[in-house]
Amino acid sequence: MATPQIDKLISILENIASGIYQFELPVFESPEFQRLAESIQHASASFEKKYRRQRLLNSITEYINNGLTLNDILDYVYNSFQEIIPYDRIGIALIEEEEKLIKVCCVRSKATVIKINRGYSAPIEGSSLAAIIESGQPRIINDLEIYLKNHPDSVSTRLILEEGMRSSLTCPLISSRKPAGFIFFSSMQVDTYKDLHIDIFLEIARQLSVIFEKSRMYEELIQLNELKNKFLGIAAHDLRSPIGVIKNFIILFLNGYIGEIDEKQRKVLMTMDKNCDRMLNLIHNLLDFSAIESGKLDLKLEQLDLHKFFHTYQSMTKSLAEKKQIELKMDIEADLPNITVDSNRIMQVLDNLVTNAIKFSYPNTTVTISARKQDESVKISVADQGQGIPENEISKIFKEFSKTSVKPTGGEKSTGLGLAIVRRIIEAHNGTIDVDSTVGKGTTFTITLPIKS
Ligand SMILES: Nc1ncnc2c1ncn2[C@@H]1O[C@H](COP(=O)(O)OP(=O)(O)O)[C@@H](O)[C@H]1O
Ligand SMILES: [Mg+2]
Repeated sequence: MATPQIDKLISILENIASGIYQFELPVFESPEFQRLAESIQHASASFEKKYRRQRLLNSITEYINNGLTLNDILDYVYNSFQEIIPYDRIGIALIEEEEKLIKVCCVRSKATVIKINRGYSAPIEGSSLAAIIESGQPRIINDLEIYLKNHPDSVSTRLILEEGMRSSLTCPLISSRKPAGFIFFSSMQVDTYKDLHIDIFLEIARQLSVIFEKSRMYEELIQLNELKNKFLGIAAHDLRSPIGVIKNFIILFLNGYIGEIDEKQRKVLMTMDKNCDRMLNLIHNLLDFSAIESGKLDLKLEQLDLHKFFHTYQSMTKSLAEKKQIELKMDIEADLPNITVDSNRIMQVLDNLVTNAIKFSYPNTTVTISARKQDESVKISVADQGQGIPENEISKIFKEFSKTSVKPTGGEKSTGLGLAIVRRIIEAHNGTIDVDSTVGKGTTFTITLPIKS
């Protein structure tokens, strides 16, 4: 008698088990079955809600692992949790231990005027936050107006009320078992927060606590990196002029303007001049690198006639190759389109690749520059018959200051900056660079540049 009804319920349960949480409530003759079905529907809706929350929480973790900053993560939380928990404003404040302050580091709000914004700070001592730090437990204020009446000195409550907020929930952020800050959820309605919200809020706070430390370190690293680039830039810049002056004096000597010089002196001066060039070259690379690193690589895009470009380059570089008895061959497709690039930068790229090819090759070999069109891109390759790069070292060649076990064959100098700069220039053009190398046979670098960057 009950079998068809049980079958119906079983099929609903099977659907739920396979992730279908929504179903139309069947009509049963027996009131017991009807109640059972209703409570299954209720349970299913609650499962779905929990499942969605869990998925959102997991997605925060995923976000965090992708190395984003606290600000990005807050954006994500603000946008994605609205559907399951109520708030019109989220703020995060961090404890600055030395100054015994809390300092707001990010805010997302629906309010038109934001009174408590990034950078706002307040002493912890004497504030109600001290109690939250002490207990480690969240606090709900269900009517901020009443709270202000009872705590007329609370500046932050007054300001948040001026933003239009009426109730709030404050969760402590814990990092390495120590209180590290707070996440504030606020709502424009009174009585928004119930104890039932606390679990999910606490879970968000827990997740944020974990990542918060990470993103603080990440931000610190970014700052340190910027500082390093600035230092590099200043140091290199201040070295450039005096070395330039020295070089000019050497040239005056060499040209006999300071007085007669003999052959021995000439040799010494020539060596000094060569070393000045080396220093200047290194300084240019360092300046380039620090500018590129700090995002100051401004491309001067223009139409480039590739045939002219390769022709000029070949005549410029022939003698460098000949000095090492290396043949420089060109294999340029006849009907190459013009490309939109910063031609000086692309010249710098090509020169780096060709200089490397010559530097790491033996005499009586060939270096070939080739270019062809492929789809909406132009591929430019520099192939040598040199030593090749061991497979396990390939991954590091584009990192700054990294060299491999492959050494220059003619006593040339090496700093390991060239390819790092090359890669950044190519990426700024939305292009790519690939390398194909076999030890004992040679290396081919191929850059792919979109015809329109
Ligand atoms: N064509 C090549 N053949 C073999 N090794 C190469 C070649 N180009 C680059 N390398 C390796 O990659 C390293 C990094 O190159 P790069 O950044 O241009 O620095 P540098 O030229 O100052 O050494 C080189 O030191 C060398 O070990
Ligand atoms: Mg190089």
